Amino acid sequence: MSNSLRIGIAGLGTVGTALVRLIQEKQEMLADRCGRAISVTGVTARSRNKDRGISLDGITWHDDANSLATSKDVDVFVEMMGGEDEPAYSAVKSALQSGKHVVTANKALLAKHGVELASIAEAEGLLLNYEAAVAGGIPIIKVMRESLTANTVTRVSGILNGTCNYILTRMEQDGLTFEECLKDAQELGFAEADPTFDIEGNDTAHKLALLTSLAFGTAIAPDAIYLEGITKITIEDIEAARDLGFRIKLLGIATRTAEGVESRVHPAMVPLGSEIAEIGGVTNAVAVEADTVGSLMMSGPGAGGDATASAAAGDICDIAKSRPGHQHGPALGQPANTLTPHERAPMRSHAGGYFIRLTVVDTPGTMAAIATRMAEQDISLESIVQRRTKDHDDIEQAPIILITHETTEQAIRNALDGVRSDGRLIGEPQMIRIETLG
Ligand SMILES: NC(=O)c1ccc[n+]([C@@H]2O[C@H](COP(=O)([O-])OP(=O)(O)OC[C@H]3O[C@@H](n4cnc5c(N)ncnc54)[C@H](OP(=O)(O)O)[C@@H]3O)[C@@H](O)[C@H]2O)c1
Repeated sequence: MSNSLRIGIAGLGTVGTALVRLIQEKQEMLADRCGRAISVTGVTARSRNKDRGISLDGITWHDDANSLATSKDVDVFVEMMGGEDEPAYSAVKSALQSGKHVVTANKALLAKHGVELASIAEAEGLLLNYEAAVAGGIPIIKVMRESLTANTVTRVSGILNGTCNYILTRMEQDGLTFEECLKDAQELGFAEADPTFDIEGNDTAHKLALLTSLAFGTAIAPDAIYLEGITKITIEDIEAARDLGFRIKLLGIATRTAEGVESRVHPAMVPLGSEIAEIGGVTNAVAVEADTVGSLMMSGPGAGGDATASAAAGDICDIAKSRPGHQHGPALGQPANTLTPHERAPMRSHAGGYFIRLTVVDTPGTMAAIATRMAEQDISLESIVQRRTKDHDDIEQAPIILITHETTEQAIRNALDGVRSDGRLIGEPQMIRIETLG
């Protein structure tokens, strides 16, 4: 068997330790399949003394990521530290500039610096692999980068954050509030101590930015994504959705339009019984619509040490099997200097059905006034449901749920501005887009 492939792993947390364990436990199988042994020769993390439940015997400890990234005893630098900037950025860049292939699970880093890092990798004839960065164990990067090369993709979408999907699933199944479910997710280790990035949709946006670039051959542009998290979703929304035949999911969706690429992350109503509605808990799903293959969807574990390590190990094996001059092609599916600028389509051009929940003071003529405001914007209503309740001051108030037929975001916003100016509105209306995927 030819020379072993020497791996340096920076970051020994959930994913890094799972990867070390996987490479050690499946040594023989990996060597057989790759045609050469794979061995971890160097590691680094913040704390040298932490017990990580893995054996680091015979593995060189490096005090900083840069020293590991440039070590002469490393062929592949595996970045499992996280974070969009230092030390991940410099370490990955130095590794590539020192002739090392790179594997990373870091979507935040790639969303910000991916084009630059891909360019360096290409110039150096190296591989930059990042299967673990999007949807954990689901091998969607390889599918989009390699298997769908002969397709023109029209839309890529999915449930890309397990924490948010877990929270929404628990809210529906157990009738718990958003806050209760978040606390539960944190206790179970699904959500970070600071969950902002997950629940505000940023993590989904980072993954969607990478998928968008692969789908449409555009530069990675996380800032061009319209972003709404799940913090404003209430039990009332979840229950009303279910009564009307929908389920609420946090989706990332990128669509090719005549005006450019429309990328958005927001809670959406998906029809009960649809494939995407059935994705529960921490599971992720990615759907691709393309001209030649048609529609496909992949689902599976979107996070967790083992699932993510599985994806990273696949990336390492691809490197083990590659030979100089016979590699698997550019990191972003096409040479980085051929990516076109990401032209952002205005969000307000988005067309589709809408769920609107608003509370109004219940006086005669209210329903008619709302219907008039909708009609003024050419919005046709599929259903309008009213439930009468009393607030603490005994004021008659009426929660009203509207489901519209296809219309535009602009029309909905104009109609709601009209309802607001009529002076009957209590609080802010909730507006959730209805999506039918696949
Ligand atoms: N967890 C998942 O399910 C999952 C899924 C998909 C992708 N990812 C991505 O995988 C990456 C790692 O995630 P994780 O969950 O494994 O993170 P984690 O458990 O927080 O581990 C991070 C590791 O990086 C080390 N580290 C942090 N800052 C460092 C620094 N300045 N220098 C050297 N080492 C440093 C930490 O060292 P100490 O242990 O000494 O503190 C720790 O070992 C992230 O990019 C994440 O987005 C994670």
